[in-house]
Amino acid sequence: MIEINNIAKSFQDKEVLKGISGTFDKGKCNLIIGSSGTGKSVLLKNIVGLIKPDQGSVLYDGRDFTHAGKEMQTEIRREIGMLFQGSALFDSKNVEQNVMFPLDVLTKMSKEEKIERVNFCLKRVGLENVNSKMPSEISGGMKKRVGIARAIVNKPNYLFCDEPNSGLDPQTSMVIDELINEITKEYDITTVVVTHDMNSVIEIGEKVMFLYKGNKLWEGTNEDITDSGVSELDDFVFANRMMKKFR
Ligand SMILES: Nc1ncnc2c1ncn2[C@@H]1O[C@H](COP(=O)(O)OP(=O)(O)OP(=O)(O)O)[C@@H](O)[C@H]1O
Ligand SMILES: [Mg+2]
Repeated sequence: MIEINNIAKSFQDKEVLKGISGTFDKGKCNLIIGSSGTGKSVLLKNIVGLIKPDQGSVLYDGRDFTHAGKEMQTEIRREIGMLFQGSALFDSKNVEQNVMFPLDVLTKMSKEEKIERVNFCLKRVGLENVNSKMPSEISGGMKKRVGIARAIVNKPNYLFCDEPNSGLDPQTSMVIDELINEITKEYDITTVVVTHDMNSVIEIGEKVMFLYKGNKLWEGTNEDITDSGVSELDDFVFANRMMKKFR
């Protein structure tokens, strides 16, 4: 479980996060949702330590990451896998080298062990016999799969995904969401997914945090999201025509 306490962050005089608290459960896909520019990515970056919060703390299974010394921070970082927005593969490395990268940097595994683990993860995300393909030779959906394989290759306890479906068609998006959800359950990972996709909320939103202009306005499940009584959330949920029918 990850716990965040009163996280605040400003850039110059712009208050982006205004004191956000909450928990992300183990074995679940915990979603952070909200409109563009509301602070989702900034919150995620604060949680993984890419940005230091002005105030508050992040606890990984009780370990205070924000105020930890270098050694403890490094230990926690090794337990984190991340799927970046747009996949962020290395263009000059092939699929196998991309997925192997965290093992090269973080472990002392032998070449054979690394290849075995890479192949296991590629198979798990439904990619086989593409090891030597370059990122420019594969589709957007395949890139996401490679990104997921890379994020789980070092057996993370915590998995973060920033907009895993951006740029994908609705069907492929659903497949990717399902894959992240299955992997989360299978390996009992604490997964945090940032999204503004209502389809993801409906499909995998068993625990959802709604951000609005730097505040957490609501928390709940996809089952109760349509009758939250929070007007800002209703505007987000019912933004498209199809959903309006259910209003
Ligand atoms: N490094 C930075 N310096 C200054 N302002 C920043 C920085 N990073 C983010 N911001 C500002 O913080 C606000 C929230 O940005 P953030 O990227 O978290 O939005 P978001 O909710 O992820 O939106 P989107 O759905 O479009 O990805 C924006 O107004 C953005 O301009
Ligand atoms: Mg973002």
